[in-house]
Amino acid sequence: MKQPLIASVLAALLALAGFGSHAAEPIAAQAEQVFRSGFRADNPKYWMTRLDQDEAMRLCSQHKDSPPPKVRAQIEKAQQATIRYPVDGKLIGDWKEGEKLAAVGTGGHIGFIQPDPPGRLRGGNCYACHQLAPKEVAFGTIGPSLRHFGKLRGSGDDVIKYVYDKVYNSNAFTACSNMPRFGLHNWLTPEQITHLVAFLVDPASPVNQD
Ligand code: HEC
Repeated sequence: MKQPLIASVLAALLALAGFGSHAAEPIAAQAEQVFRSGFRADNPKYWMTRLDQDEAMRLCSQHKDSPPPKVRAQIEKAQQATIRYPVDGKLIGDWKEGEKLAAVGTGGHIGFIQPDPPGRLRGGNCYACHQLAPKEVAFGTIGPSLRHFGKLRGSGDDVIKYVYDKVYNSNAFTACSNMPRFGLHNWLTPEQITHLVAFLVDPASPVNQD
């Protein structure tokens, strides 16, 4: 009876001493390998580079999307520094263009069966995660509802800048946000982002109408 008890206490002490974490590393490497092997090696290079994590993603993975305050602040500061603005400095565009972009879910699809042809309009696909204008009833709820965004938050310069920055690089505000970083990844141009800002903030936009 005594021997097994001693053995299990010893095992627990070894685990506490960090032997468990040594075992975790090869498992993570194996998982990464399995994940990558799901993609064909002859894929175009720019498809494969999407599998590489940048520093923010790496830190978020390391901390399971919940980094300690210091790391969180470090990520957000670095992401904030990536934000670029339109040359004319105007951060609010045309809500009608923004309305179209918000609803477009195409562009940039990879895969051999039905990849998007080069040059196909890239949309924001905002309804995948947010409620916006009332006429679109099929919306996801991963993100908060943005219905009446401008009505509730106003349309001052600070709000306009916040929305521009958020859409450009969402992780500048929420270190491990799962909202895509549309500007950072050149998914949307700065000009397209200004149209989305108008869609959310302009009092005439359907987002802010009843
Ligand atoms: C994959 C899901 C996803 C997509 C797609 C997405 N978002 Fe988000 N969004 C989120 C989440 C989640 C949040 C909540 C805060 C956070 O985690 O960043 C958020 C927050 C926001 C906020 C801040 C809201 C507030 O109350 O301050 C704005 C503005 C926003 N999104 C705009 C957009 C726009 C515009 C688009 C389309 C171009 C878009 N989002 C696409 C997930 C998404």
